Amino acid sequence: MAGVRTRPLAARLCADLYAQSRSRLPRTAVRRKSGPYGYTQAKALVYSKNGEPSDVLSLHTHSISPSIPSSSVLVRTLAAPINPADINTVQGTYGSKQPMTSLIGTAEPSAVPGNEGVFEVLSAGGSSSGLAKGDWVIPAASQFGTWRTHAVDDAAKFLKINKEGITPLQAATVSVNPCTAYRILRSYGPSAGLKAGLAMKPLDVGSGQWFIQNGANSGVGRAAIQFGKLWGLRSINVVRDRETPEATDALKQELHDLGADVVVTESQFLSREWKDRLAEITRGGREQIGLGLNCVGGKSATSIARSLGEGATMLSYGGMAKQPVALPVGLLIFKDIRFVGFWLSRWNQKDVEGRKHMIEDILNLIREGRFRDVPVEEIKWDWDTEEATLRNAVQNGLQGFKKGKGVFVFGET
Ligand SMILES: NC(=O)c1ccc[n+]([C@@H]2O[C@H](COP(=O)([O-])OP(=O)(O)OC[C@H]3O[C@@H](n4cnc5c(N)ncnc54)[C@H](OP(=O)(O)O)[C@@H]3O)[C@@H](O)[C@H]2O)c1
Repeated sequence: MAGVRTRPLAARLCADLYAQSRSRLPRTAVRRKSGPYGYTQAKALVYSKNGEPSDVLSLHTHSISPSIPSSSVLVRTLAAPINPADINTVQGTYGSKQPMTSLIGTAEPSAVPGNEGVFEVLSAGGSSSGLAKGDWVIPAASQFGTWRTHAVDDAAKFLKINKEGITPLQAATVSVNPCTAYRILRSYGPSAGLKAGLAMKPLDVGSGQWFIQNGANSGVGRAAIQFGKLWGLRSINVVRDRETPEATDALKQELHDLGADVVVTESQFLSREWKDRLAEITRGGREQIGLGLNCVGGKSATSIARSLGEGATMLSYGGMAKQPVALPVGLLIFKDIRFVGFWLSRWNQKDVEGRKHMIEDILNLIREGRFRDVPVEEIKWDWDTEEATLRNAVQNGLQGFKKGKGVFVFGET
């Protein structure tokens, strides 16, 4: 809050004790938006041990002191998606672990899941924070913990975004999936070597080189289709068959509308006929597929590798089928195919400035109507929303054949 100074230790301890006692109140307790001494009441999904979200997530209520350090801000969450990586983090199968702390007064050390989201600044501790009431911010680094109604943290932990012409859903989902596709195509597509922030410049890609991807209807896949189109690449997109031919056709059409050149179902892709169809697409092999993107694994990954041209790159960035990637050794020897992996979190740490440019670039494309966001299934999170509703929404997040990505949309919290 402007002009508020950090209080002495004794006062802070009282505040912490107050916060902890509030956190133990029964969930039916009547909520006052602003408690005694101006405390903000907040809720967060937390876990203290790894496991299935439905088993280990709980909704924790706590109070936030109005007295915050001058470099900090108090924010409220507007929207936060449920991405596969968030669930894997709760399960304990992700590549990095969140630290468990007692900062919000949970009985046991805990962590708040949620990698991305958008917050509105409610108050700033002082002008040194560089942020002001009403600003929109997203986490500056991975694993901030966005599945919560409010947070207080150092302003440096946030990245301010220009909210003009952007919806909370768009802001909440910009920093993981679109950025992954953007970065992969910039680094491994024919665009390699171009710096982030130059997306508006046409790339030097001649008549359009091919890339192929599975999981093409995922958030990353849809973004890759669109960036590919914008940057002069052509895409072959593999999706899983839907329950009915009509539903499959509708999904194919959605991807064509985003700019997909070819959309094939997994059953076609894994069949014997795929070789002939591929030859047709690549004009009897006169055109080659230079990049394969895999977020599935198993047979689908093997088929991606087999579809590639000589010297191509196959990049794995996800493993939705939870099956290992098996690669015929001939592809390594006779086709000299390069197999690489990509992890956005690592790239973000290496190039903080590049990440800012990339996010601005994508938000601009959204404003200009040149980039469409992923279909979502909104999960309303109001003050009275039950713990079970939130927990189940997370648990459902890894189920296949979804109509849209689950996103917590925060109402009157
Ligand atoms: N490496 C990185 O830096 C990075 C960054 C972002 C995302 N990722 C990864 O990218 C992948 C996609 O993430 P997202 O957020 O874009 O996904 P999403 O929007 O939640 O969509 C999930 C995708 O996975 C498919 N899928 C689900 N279960 C499957 C299964 N058992 N077998 C085959 N496909 C299955 C879905 O196809 P259906 O519609 O047919 O179910 C859909 O295409 C995830 O593995 C995620 O962890 C990695």
